[in-house]
Amino acid sequence: MQFENQVALVTGAGRGIGKAIALDLAQAGADIVFTNRTKSLAEETRAEIEALGRKCLAVQADVTEPEAVEGMVAQALEQFSTIDILVNNAGITSDQLFMRMTPENWRKVMSVNLDGMFYVTRAVIKTMVKQRRGRIINITSVVGFTGNPGQVNYSSAKSAVVGFTKSIARELGSRNITCNAVAPGFVDTDMTRVLNESQRKAIMDQIPLGRMGTVEEIAKAVRFIASEDAGYISGTVIHVNGGMF
Ligand SMILES: NC(=O)c1ccc[n+]([C@@H]2O[C@H](COP(=O)([O-])OP(=O)(O)OC[C@H]3O[C@@H](n4cnc5c(N)ncnc54)[C@H](O)[C@@H]3O)[C@@H](O)[C@H]2O)c1
Repeated sequence: MQFENQVALVTGAGRGIGKAIALDLAQAGADIVFTNRTKSLAEETRAEIEALGRKCLAVQADVTEPEAVEGMVAQALEQFSTIDILVNNAGITSDQLFMRMTPENWRKVMSVNLDGMFYVTRAVIKTMVKQRRGRIINITSVVGFTGNPGQVNYSSAKSAVVGFTKSIARELGSRNITCNAVAPGFVDTDMTRVLNESQRKAIMDQIPLGRMGTVEEIAKAVRFIASEDAGYISGTVIHVNGGMF
């Protein structure tokens, strides 16, 4: 129960990595606020969190809409009075070879993966500054470090998440707020289930451990960074990728 009396806000926790993070933090005692866009998935996640004996607020908010984000944070503070841990997890891909990449492919990905992180962090930070305590954990990706064909938009956004993380860490360290990123390699979720057999094989060939990661393996890294044990870690990236980078 290392997070007893703490509140964690996780974006995009209706499924995949975000859901695993929310459940793992709840298992360790945190009450959870999360965003999702699909109502039925949000209900499932909420029921699972409450079954662990934790309180949970699920808000249908799109992280690309600043007003919706401000409203979601206001609702969270009204119910819980505090937000101790923020996990910026919501993310999308819109893959296309660069020669065919449209402004829409580019903007969609920047908007969710980067603008969304800015809006949510901006809305939460005032509370963390006031309480002089906070943990911010941003989900980036191995492709932000290696690049990937077909993902110029996504890898650019994920590299930018690293700059965002390091600058927040420098700016807010004096307020006892840490900011770190977790960079998953390839993880078995809906995001990677769209890959075809030959894309999967090409990826497997790059992973020394010879398998994709699980959502729980990413959640455990996030839990560590959120914990007291990681109190002196800030401005860094934890890579969880089976040795591929
Ligand atoms: N799966 C992987 O291999 C992998 C690898 C590296 C990084 N990541 C990153 O991990 C995070 C989670 O990915 P995942 O694999 O669980 O994907 P996923 O598609 O299963 O889940 C993404 C979640 O984000 C939510 N979301 C998307 N757009 C949103 C928006 N505008 N507002 C609010 N919520 C929104 C979705 O509803 C969903 O719950 C993403 O940031 C992704 O880039 C994933």
